[in-house]
Amino acid sequence: MKDVVLWTGAGQIGMAIARRIGFGKKIIVGDKKFDNAKSIAKIMTEAGFDIEPIECDISNRKSIINLIKAGQKYGEIATLINAAGVSPSQATIEVILKVDLYGTAVLLEEVGKVIKRGGRGVTISSQSGYRMPALTPEVDEQLACTPTEELLKLDVLQPKNIKDTLHAYQMAKRCNVKRVMAEAVKWGERGARINSISPGIIVTPLAIDEFNGIRGDFYKNMFAKCPAGRPGTADEVANIAELLLTEKADFISGSDFLIDGGATASYYYGPLKP
Ligand SMILES: NC(=O)c1ccc[n+]([C@@H]2O[C@H](COP(=O)([O-])OP(=O)(O)OC[C@H]3O[C@@H](n4cnc5c(N)ncnc54)[C@H](O)[C@@H]3O)[C@@H](O)[C@H]2O)c1
Repeated sequence: MKDVVLWTGAGQIGMAIARRIGFGKKIIVGDKKFDNAKSIAKIMTEAGFDIEPIECDISNRKSIINLIKAGQKYGEIATLINAAGVSPSQATIEVILKVDLYGTAVLLEEVGKVIKRGGRGVTISSQSGYRMPALTPEVDEQLACTPTEELLKLDVLQPKNIKDTLHAYQMAKRCNVKRVMAEAVKWGERGARINSISPGIIVTPLAIDEFNGIRGDFYKNMFAKCPAGRPGTADEVANIAELLLTEKADFISGSDFLIDGGATASYYYGPLKP
């Protein structure tokens, strides 16, 4: 039997992380687009990793349970990498909330029930969640603690309260961070840890869709005017994930790590101020 890595979202960020920590373990990669999972599994197999692709839609609880069961055939679930998601230019408000908000919450909940003692997880949130005014403490607590099947019924997530797909994405990513805090308490009861990473613009197919979408100029301006003056890479995100997924981070749980080249700083106190 081997330690198992469950990895959702067969994209660039997920692969960069899996390559850092997956060697010697059994990796199960799940993606809604099975072709993405298969092609990334081929690349990883040819680089010496032990990996199996499966079709998995994180917005569907049964699909998540299938992913977990696929992993448990090989050993205990030791690591979760959640890098599945859709961006504001890729999906409708409804789909963004279903995948990025609800799907992430269900995944953290279900994996939290089976993660092995000493297990670790990361989920990819976004700097977008930092670009909203503070929510009330009550709403923050609702996003953190509402039972998963009730989440999408919250008043704050109803169509009348969501302006557009960007707002839906921001709410989803804010929810990810709050959910990670609440889940860290439960994962801790099993001796396991869960954290999130909030990247800025990272060059991946998802970001390229944004560059070519209706907010393309907004995104290009954002990285041009951030202190780093450029977009980031998936490998830079993996630098943090690698730390979080090793014993060096055993005192870190329920935290979020912003890695955005300083774009959020510039949004509040520099040239990106709206
Ligand atoms: N690239 C960026 O600039 C950026 C910035 C901040 C946050 N993020 C977040 O990083 C995560 C990973 O994105 P990426 O940039 O690596 O993009 P990517 O397009 O390379 O990968 C995303 C993958 O998620 C899959 N996916 C979409 N919906 C799914 C679902 N319901 N179930 C399972 N898989 C699904 C897609 O098919 C795709 O393979 C996302 O959550 C995204 O919101 C990305």
